[in-house]
Amino acid sequence: MVQKIALFNHKGGVSKTTTTFNLGWMLATKGKKVIIVDADPQCELTEMVLRFSTKEDIEGLYEKKQNIKSGLAPVFESRPKLIEAVDCLPVEGCDGLFLLPGHVGFAEYEVTLGIAQELSGSIQALQNLPGSISYLLQKTADKFEADYILIDMSPNLSSINQNLMMTSDFFILPTNPDFFSVMAIDSLAKILPKWYAWAQKASEMRILKDADYPFPKVTPRLLGTIVQNYTIRYGEPATVFQNWINKIKVAVSARLGPSLRENNMLLTDEMYASQGIKSDFCLAKISAFNSLIAKSQKYQTPVFALTSEQIEQVGIVLETTLKAQEKFRNTFDELADKIICLTNAVSN
Ligand SMILES: Nc1ncnc2c1ncn2[C@@H]1O[C@H](COP(=O)(O)OP(=O)(O)O)[C@@H](O)[C@H]1O
Ligand SMILES: [Mg+2]
Repeated sequence: MVQKIALFNHKGGVSKTTTTFNLGWMLATKGKKVIIVDADPQCELTEMVLRFSTKEDIEGLYEKKQNIKSGLAPVFESRPKLIEAVDCLPVEGCDGLFLLPGHVGFAEYEVTLGIAQELSGSIQALQNLPGSISYLLQKTADKFEADYILIDMSPNLSSINQNLMMTSDFFILPTNPDFFSVMAIDSLAKILPKWYAWAQKASEMRILKDADYPFPKVTPRLLGTIVQNYTIRYGEPATVFQNWINKIKVAVSARLGPSLRENNMLLTDEMYASQGIKSDFCLAKISAFNSLIAKSQKYQTPVFALTSEQIEQVGIVLETTLKAQEKFRNTFDELADKIICLTNAVSN
């Protein structure tokens, strides 16, 4: 059974896309079949993996109809055709990792889906929309025999995000140590229970149960948070970042955690404890990649998988970078292990 994991924060720039790519790669390195889904119409994950250099490259990709919008077109554009699995693209350099590309025009479905999610209980013509994204991802996972689907989402509280979050089995909350991440956590403590209440109602509606693509009954559960992209001073996060890391910890443990607990959107305490996860639900702390980020982008390869040649340094500088790289490799290795253990614990 595939496990769907949404990487979500309605704040932008918190490393959702970067983490989807890096974590997907690490899970695949561990023998899992992984599909990374670009559900952000800004298509940054698609760009990260495929590196378009010309407009023709992008048009070429869209013509192949191997993307999230084309996959959903039968239902959103009322075509007399069933949704079929998307033919995902293998990610170069990583066996077992596949990309379901994004599409700038995916945003065009936003309004229709919003209306369907508000009114589908009463308008039969819209009944197939709310369950369609989940159906497409499931079909695609079946075709690829995927163990994991990681969904990279756009930074907003749109109907598409509401749908993706509420039809995922799990979610990860990436954050940056800054003021806006704390604000975002507080707003998610209020929004997520509302979304979940809607999803529970939708999954019980006869009209959505009888649809060609029934709206599934899922309880999305928090795997944990990630705090990322801070500067290290003397082996520790620099003070300004540490202060925000502390505030994030408080926001999650005092506000988001209790709100999710009340709504049954957490795993059991034992499951978190078994992975050393505390009340801040922190899965990983990842400092700034520094010089490695540019090479990672240049070679479409996670920082931890770059070769010494790709790092393009020599002597003592290279040695220092390799040490940093090893630290990041260990961090992502541990993160992937935690994800595997937590998701297994739930499915067993
Ligand atoms: N650990 C990190 N170190 C350095 N730069 C990072 C790190 N994580 C992300 N970035 C950079 O920060 C920016 C935002 O990251 P991104 O993954 O696109 O965030 P989001 O998808 O949440 O908007 C990108 O330019 C990315 O390369
Ligand atoms: Mg992004």
